Amino acid sequence: MSGPLTLDYANMMEPNVEGGGVDPERLGGDLAERFAEAFASVEADRASGRMGFFDLPYAEEALRQTREVADGFGQWFENVVVLGIGGSALGARTVRDALLGPLWNEQDEEEREHFPRLYVVDNIDPATLTDLLDRLDLRRTLFNVVSKSGSTAETMALYLVLEERVRQIVGEDEARGHFLFTTDAERGSLREVAEAEGIPTLAIPANVGGRFSVLTPVGVLPAAVTGVDVEALMAGAAAMDARCRSGTLTENPAGVFATLLHTADTELGAPIHVLMPYADRLRSLGLWFQQLWAESLGKALGVGGEEVHSGPTPLTAVGASDQHAQVQLFMEGPRDKVVVFVAVQGKPDDLTIPSHREDVSALGYLGGHTIGELLDVERRATAEALRQRGRPNMTVEIERLDAFSLGQVLMMFEIATVYAAALYGVDPLVQPGVELGKELTYGLLGREGFERPSLPDADSRWRI
Ligand code: PA5
Repeated sequence: MSGPLTLDYANMMEPNVEGGGVDPERLGGDLAERFAEAFASVEADRASGRMGFFDLPYAEEALRQTREVADGFGQWFENVVVLGIGGSALGARTVRDALLGPLWNEQDEEEREHFPRLYVVDNIDPATLTDLLDRLDLRRTLFNVVSKSGSTAETMALYLVLEERVRQIVGEDEARGHFLFTTDAERGSLREVAEAEGIPTLAIPANVGGRFSVLTPVGVLPAAVTGVDVEALMAGAAAMDARCRSGTLTENPAGVFATLLHTADTELGAPIHVLMPYADRLRSLGLWFQQLWAESLGKALGVGGEEVHSGPTPLTAVGASDQHAQVQLFMEGPRDKVVVFVAVQGKPDDLTIPSHREDVSALGYLGGHTIGELLDVERRATAEALRQRGRPNMTVEIERLDAFSLGQVLMMFEIATVYAAALYGVDPLVQPGVELGKELTYGLLGREGFERPSLPDADSRWRI
């Protein structure tokens, strides 16, 4: 098991990063006070039971049940397909890519140790769905339908299409054995369908919303069914939670992360927060963080109902690839960004670069180093280059990319998000801004109880 995560924030501080950093004195002064208040408000919310994600690493019974369901399916299914969207999909994809690798589904049975392939369908693009269905043997496929509300249009539509397809192939009786629902413990249409059809379900606790649900069966079932060490994932999350029980800013990694990014946004003119892992396996983590940070913090109203229109803009990049794309903008574009690198120290599958081109200067110097070393050196060089240009950045360092480390990272970002929300004065658990679009969609599709909206006709003056 790997060791504790480190947050290196030296490049957020003056005078290390000139003109774009935080005065170190403030960490023991006004920022410490501001954080102590935010911490107290989050602790109060936690104690009230509003923030159920804090309890998940300790929910042994729920973990046991999820494991039991995963084991029950055994390695019988060749494919497991998660149907969900937003927080009901991104966690599963993050865990799969980080711990099994983005090429998991391309490995053969033996390489996968007979664990199933794992697909996450989180959109309603018919082209993707058709491509996927062409590849899957539906007789050997389990569909895990994930929806907390049990009513999200995209997920329900996917379910209806897939249910009919599976019925056509295996018959109505057998079809129900190809579905597993992950939904609210008590409420929602998906639960009603499950009860009527006898489809097994796993429960998402009422006090855990989509983007905070990766450690519920939403993320844990797909992980367990593919052989991920879910106990280590939870242990990592618990270890991070323990480190974040301090109201002293400099002792609390999630507190430092949230406070520095909040300060960068509200005082230093840097509202764009880039998560840039140096690992292909962590590309999906970037998208997961993007949703968590955006949907939790982008709000029109504060907790008291006052207008705030707050929220940083999260962005995703990947090193080293983005050194040849977005880094030009990060270095020389507007000074409105903080880059958060994620560094993985140990690289077990590293490759040595051969030395047989020593006569060619552009190739020779690489010989004898490893690919992993090159990746790491490039990350350090990019962080230093940003620092020298007065561009603030920090680095989340993990020892190895294993379940324990991932548990720490996920929990740190979730806790940082609720701290940041307290600092902004907004409620991280609601998303009223997505409702209007949903209502218009319902109206356009003729859902009962929703008025059909009249959308303006295309205006030829503004089309070219
Ligand atoms: O984070 C959230 O709450 C959202 O992104 C939801 O996860 C998303 O809208 C899907 O909702 P549901 O799980 O109810 O289908």
